Amino acid sequence: MPASSVVVFFLLLTGTLSIVILIDQAQPVWLQRYYIVRTIIGFVTFELLSVVSCRLFLAVFPLPIGPIVPKSRGEFAYCVYMLFAILILPLLQSSALPFVFRQFVYVLSGTRLGRRSTCAGLILDPPLVTIGSDSQIGFDAVLTCHAFQHGSYELYPITVGNQVTIGIRAIILPGVVIGDRATVAAGAVVAKHTQVGPNETWGGIPARLIKKAT
Ligand SMILES: CC(C)(COP(=O)(O)OP(=O)(O)OC[C@H]1O[C@@H](n2cnc3c(N)ncnc32)[C@H](O)[C@@H]1OP(=O)(O)O)[C@@H](O)C(=O)NCCC(=O)NCCS
Repeated sequence: MPASSVVVFFLLLTGTLSIVILIDQAQPVWLQRYYIVRTIIGFVTFELLSVVSCRLFLAVFPLPIGPIVPKSRGEFAYCVYMLFAILILPLLQSSALPFVFRQFVYVLSGTRLGRRSTCAGLILDPPLVTIGSDSQIGFDAVLTCHAFQHGSYELYPITVGNQVTIGIRAIILPGVVIGDRATVAAGAVVAKHTQVGPNETWGGIPARLIKKAT
């Protein structure tokens, strides 16, 4: 990991923590006696501000698409983003949080989520995921836009159309495009760059076409 990424990450982290401390100090005196409440407010504020810091950083240094070239601007951006992702992941993985709240965090992180769509799974790279309207991502499904293979990284966006169902525990790999009204079966693994057509149902490992609605 480039040293410049670590330095920039810690600078942004210091800024984020300073704001969290300021917010904590600004709380009314009666609230300051409730340490558990203060800790929860501090944790949630820290996580949400980390998301915002990461978004602001990515607005200046966008994530690269494709293989990540060592020592490039893209690698720098990806490494800073990855350090933020490690911070934010506990918030997204916590089943103690209602999934509606997790959706809010995904949208804040950059996922384009259409109207009435829900996500009860895990989106590992929110800025690179687009989901249409009226779609459902099933419980424990995972959408990952990054692949770490043979010592190198690559990043490709994932696009999910309208009225799509992604089944429980399905895994969607980088570069997958899922057409409108398609279904991915429970437990399926949809391989990199697969194009699932509109109205199609795919399942299995690796996922194959099971049927197509007429
Ligand atoms: C794939 C799915 C949509 C098929 O349901 P269906 O339309 O009722 O069809 P069937 O159950 O008759 O199955 C059709 C074929 O798909 C196969 N199939 C069903 N579920 C499958 C799965 N999870 N993985 C692989 N193949 C599957 C069946 O074996 C059958 O194959 P066959 O025609 O060779 O016998 C359904 O099994 C499924 O996985 N739905 C996801 C639901 C879900 O998780 N929603 C999210 C809620 S949070």
